[in-house]
Amino acid sequence: MISHVYATGNQLRWAADLSPGEVPRAADIVLAGLGGSGMAARVGALTAPSIPLTLVQGYELPGWAPGRKPLVVAVSYSGNTEETLAVFEAARAAGLPLVAVTTGGALAELAAAVGAAVVEVPGGLQPRAALAYQAGAVTMVLAAATGAASPASELTAAADVVDRTLDDGDGPGAALGRDLAEGIHGRICVIYGGHGVGAVAASRWKAQINENAKMPAFASEVPELDHNELEGWGTLPDLGRRTIALVTLRDPAGHPRIEQRMRLTTEVVRGKVAHVGEVIALGTSPLSRFFSLAAVGDVASVELARLSDVDPTPVTLLEDFKRRLRED
Ligand code: PA5
Repeated sequence: MISHVYATGNQLRWAADLSPGEVPRAADIVLAGLGGSGMAARVGALTAPSIPLTLVQGYELPGWAPGRKPLVVAVSYSGNTEETLAVFEAARAAGLPLVAVTTGGALAELAAAVGAAVVEVPGGLQPRAALAYQAGAVTMVLAAATGAASPASELTAAADVVDRTLDDGDGPGAALGRDLAEGIHGRICVIYGGHGVGAVAASRWKAQINENAKMPAFASEVPELDHNELEGWGTLPDLGRRTIALVTLRDPAGHPRIEQRMRLTTEVVRGKVAHVGEVIALGTSPLSRFFSLAAVGDVASVELARLSDVDPTPVTLLEDFKRRLRED
């Protein structure tokens, strides 16, 4: 798993060279995907703030879709995720333009059968270890669908930022990830990020800690949490000081009031938790900023697995759950 983390820059460079093929032009876009593939959709969406984008993480198309005829981009690494297949099938039945981002599976077959564009990403990985392949591919698809300039240089710039911060384990981001893992180990990790890049990165941190380290972790975003969750630190101080580690993901290029809120929020929570860590985004584009924050969390999650002596790669509970659901 750690070698895939260090290969993030190479994955982004692969995407920079990608030609997404015949992508239909669209004014509205629906992105469908779950888990690691849903994360790729969310990262791709960060690169296209000027088009109406709806993320679907369930079984159904939004009610407005058949009338407005959006492009539906289904993202599934395995190509076999039932929710994503259901959305793709509903979109096909409604006659909507379609693109599939996948390694194969039923999604690739279905797409080929209806003549939809398929953007194939390299296979053989856990979906979460292929985030940069998939997010890069989604970024390319969104640019092609909207007629925007190629995002190749943004992808390459993000690759350079990630490579500098990780440097195969010798860079400052890798050292920070290992250091934060020491503070999180044996505790429940709560990750806060600012709406936009920081919040998507916080969700990636959470999912990586869940799946790689097999630990509970929770993510929230500012400003929303300042309107509810913050109050929840008011009682049980002993519990928080024994069991919770807070990591804040700061994005200096984000909205200035959000940065102010992140600083003040941390001040309120500090002292009520066992450990506070901070990561500051690098780079200028949303892709660079996201991947610079996520890369540190990727390293931390694998280091947490090492500290707990668990294999980060298999996701036995998730696979068992999918099997039980099929048999239910
Ligand atoms: O990390 C994982 O294995 C999951 O989060 C999967 O990404 C999720 O179950 C969806 O599968 P897929 O990415 O193949 O559509």
